[in-house]
Amino acid sequence: MKHYLQFSDFSADEYAYVFARAALIKHKFKTYQKHHTLLDRTLAMIFEKASTRTRVSFEAGMYQLGGSVVHLTTGDSQLGRAEPIEDSAKVISRMTDIVMIRTFEQTKIERFAAHSRVPVINGLTNEFHPCQVLADIFTYIEHRGSIAGKTVAWVGDGNNMANTWLQAADLLGFTVHVSTPGGYEVNQSIAGVRASGSYRVFEDPLKACQGADLVTTDVWTSMGFEAENAARMQAFASWRVTTQMMAVAAPQALFMHCLPAHRGEEVDADVIDGPQSVVWDEAENRLHVQKALMEYLLLGELPA
Ligand code: CP
Ligand code: NVA
Repeated sequence: MKHYLQFSDFSADEYAYVFARAALIKHKFKTYQKHHTLLDRTLAMIFEKASTRTRVSFEAGMYQLGGSVVHLTTGDSQLGRAEPIEDSAKVISRMTDIVMIRTFEQTKIERFAAHSRVPVINGLTNEFHPCQVLADIFTYIEHRGSIAGKTVAWVGDGNNMANTWLQAADLLGFTVHVSTPGGYEVNQSIAGVRASGSYRVFEDPLKACQGADLVTTDVWTSMGFEAENAARMQAFASWRVTTQMMAVAAPQALFMHCLPAHRGEEVDADVIDGPQSVVWDEAENRLHVQKALMEYLLLGELPA
């Protein structure tokens, strides 16, 4: 049994399969063809933080695969009343076929997975957001072909998205140019990358964007860090993706943002709503890649 707790849980070959499968699943969805490979399977979704995209994409995706979903939050389950995570894992995984969790510490999802009888998917933790980078790379491939050998500029917080990009670069053979304010740097050991060869750190965000094939950013204050908001607003003021940054990137550069976005904070409206932005494709692709992911975790590789 496999879990998907961080990007490095899959090999490059497994990603090649999942991306090809996601393309097939997307084509069938767009042409109104049924694709009921998970008939009668049940997904439990556990949310300890807010969500729009992750909730809708997993829920709609599971129904489209012929299955059904159970939605739990901290507030309306015993998770919020201190039932041990290990006990919750044992119970929920006896009643469902696959579990998606959005929570705080990565250790929490690891403890859940260690006591689960069924595959567990990370729907975002403080440390990682693998389903998002899965969608982002699929989106890059759709627009520009293979990401191997390319350069991704990360402008902003050294957060869960940044860590996941570092793992992806390590595994899929591209480079990340990281620029964060002082005090918000990526940490190689938290990111869980074996070597620093796949990323370079830049003090100046403009320099990080120079020649980049993809420029990407995220909110200045992630969920769970709201108490730091005022300090972050000050610290991140120069880490806004601007049209000037996009102008020094490669001519065909794309802009991505996992959303939700704050125009005028981490990105200018002219960029996110501009011609290089693929944020709506990126959001939609959460649906297609996660259907491929759930199918792979439950059924393994299938013939095309
Ligand atoms: N990008 C993303 O995960 O969005 P939600 O927080 O809306 O799920
Ligand atoms: N880094 C953000 C991503 C939201 C999808 C957060 O963790 O809140």
